Amino acid sequence: MSGRAEGTSMTDGGSSIPEVQALLRVLASGRTAAEAGTAFGKGAQAIAGTASSLVTVELDAERAAIARTALVDHANVEVIVGDWREELSPRGPFAQVPLLSLVAVRFSRENE
Ligand SMILES: C[S@@+](CC[C@H](N)C(=O)[O-])C[C@H]1O[C@@H](n2cnc3c(N)ncnc32)[C@H](O)[C@@H]1O
Repeated sequence: MSGRAEGTSMTDGGSSIPEVQALLRVLASGRTAAEAGTAFGKGAQAIAGTASSLVTVELDAERAAIARTALVDHANVEVIVGDWREELSPRGPFAQVPLLSLVAVRFSRENE
């Protein structure tokens, strides 16, 4: 896989576990959501199922391509290849929801 960021604190793991995906569905419900680290799109599928929209950013172009295929039926999702630290901030502000160390998800304040 390519695109690994030097000094990133994010994990190189593949997908969030089903229990985390279930929590993401609840937290994202009706929200404008953003995800840092798409990986293969498993968490994004969960978020997109209940969020009004989702922008998700993945550093690794190969993973992002797989995620785009997995998310093809979710018209409310935008998958971006890049560094979430650069790509998400212009789309904010977001209220950060720390969720374990495996998944970072941010939700827009606009619906609060
Ligand atoms: C634990 S996986 C994400 C799991 C995914 N959120 C899910 O729920 O299935 C972490 C991902 O973050 C990506 N990543 C690491 N640093 C990143 C960065 N600075 N910007 C975007 N993606 C990054 C890695 O390539 C990896 O695919």
